[in-house]
Amino acid sequence: MTLTGGWDAAADLVVVGAGVAGLTAATEAVRLGLRVLVVAKDVGDTSTRYAQGGMATATVDDVAAHAEDTIAAGAGLCDPAAVRSVVGDGTAAFAALTALGARFDTTADGRVARTREGGHRTARIVHAGGDATGAEIQRALTAAGPTALIDSVVLSVITGPHGAAGVVVATAAPSGALESVGVIHAPAVLLATGGSGMLFATGTNPTGATGDGIALALAAGAEIADVEFVQFHPTVFFAPGGHGRLPLISEALRGEGARLVDLDGRPVVGDAHPLGDLAPRDVVSRAVAARLAESGASHVLLDARGVPDVAHRFPTVTRSCRERGVDPATTPIPVAPAAHYACGGIVTDLVGRTCVPGLFAAGEVARTGLHGANRLASNSLLEGVVLGRRVAAAARDRVGTDTPGDPVVPRAARRLDRAVLQAAASAGIGVVRDADGVGAARQVAARAVDGPLTTVHDVEDAALTTLLDATATAAALRTETRGAHTRRDHPITDPAQSRSLVLSRDGDGALTVRRGDLARRLVPAGVS
Ligand code: SIN
Repeated sequence: MTLTGGWDAAADLVVVGAGVAGLTAATEAVRLGLRVLVVAKDVGDTSTRYAQGGMATATVDDVAAHAEDTIAAGAGLCDPAAVRSVVGDGTAAFAALTALGARFDTTADGRVARTREGGHRTARIVHAGGDATGAEIQRALTAAGPTALIDSVVLSVITGPHGAAGVVVATAAPSGALESVGVIHAPAVLLATGGSGMLFATGTNPTGATGDGIALALAAGAEIADVEFVQFHPTVFFAPGGHGRLPLISEALRGEGARLVDLDGRPVVGDAHPLGDLAPRDVVSRAVAARLAESGASHVLLDARGVPDVAHRFPTVTRSCRERGVDPATTPIPVAPAAHYACGGIVTDLVGRTCVPGLFAAGEVARTGLHGANRLASNSLLEGVVLGRRVAAAARDRVGTDTPGDPVVPRAARRLDRAVLQAAASAGIGVVRDADGVGAARQVAARAVDGPLTTVHDVEDAALTTLLDATATAAALRTETRGAHTRRDHPITDPAQSRSLVLSRDGDGALTVRRGDLARRLVPAGVS
């Protein structure tokens, strides 16, 4: 089909994505007086909406311990300055959300309720609606934020001599077919497109989590890093033959006393880590994968029968289990690891700036240095709020920048069929990897051919193909086990590899890789 076109719009800031980072930035930018346009594929189906456990929010006297736990989980690749900076803004992030109308759970005596999850030594995670924290944050931000241009997909970021100059957008019909193409001129563009969980056959992400921002950023000249660190959540509802988005069984259940056991009732994590079942997520996922390999079983069990009033405290989990015939109050829940979170992403500084002036990234699509090789549970909503607010302030500095630039409307892109790339990723770059598997995934990525971009699905498949290539390339080069990257053929962490793998596109569009000391970059003035 032929794309019709020709509409033009202008803004001070274009936000791509409508989850916690995007809508926080948009809301704050409007408050600062900027003209903001939000472009989203589906405003109701973000990863934020499905976040359960909560938002890690250290009180003032807990900031140092929260930073220590984050750095411990990150397995040597966190940027300590980024960690201190983001974690230190927890109280401000919480205040900003409550000021917008988000309602968090309280204890019987009226204090903010806090729970624990993996890797946290203390109860510092605030939550809403029991286990519906993300849904409440999404509700509050959607109500407060500017109206989004929905059912629209960004085809390219416009760049010129002064950096980002706007975006090329295609609106989509209900069938997903791309319709009219338009151009939004803006001196500041924020990519807040979320994760890329759809790279794998099963996961917790919504269907729109296809790594679109990564592909856009690379094409615009930005860098990505740490993409080999895909976090697999250890407790995702297991159903034989399950495919696509599966129900998350929140780690907070273990924080409230649930235990992971195998089909014979034996503990799964045991003494593999001092925090036992509340070890960081990579440790627990590895332990589950090892038990499955050893026993030949397809799943393990999360026994939540001892969690007080589980149906009331965890209504979302209870509902999704009951829909599948399991009542957590009386029956252990079948679970297995599945793709959950991209720890790496577009390289930014601590106000969300990429190396392309005017191009920002925030939220799961970004790599600030907070997560390192393994994100600490419930640090992502926090990062989205903190960075979203900072991007808005930084975007204000771009207002008035002259933004010449030629809109490029890509008509075709290298891509693979969705089923082919998901099979390659699940087999080769899943929880446990080795040279043969990652090599095979790279070979599949290399088979991508140019295909026309006529539907949203085509655009997404092109982005996922880029993700497969980048993730498999980095996973092949990282010949060690670290954080969320487990190599059965290199089971030891190698201190010589405690640096990020940074990827970008060369002049011919090929991916190039360098080892980078990203932690050494300067913290921008005015940010603690
Ligand atoms: C969970 O509730 O287990 C997920 C929380 C997170 O991914 O941070």
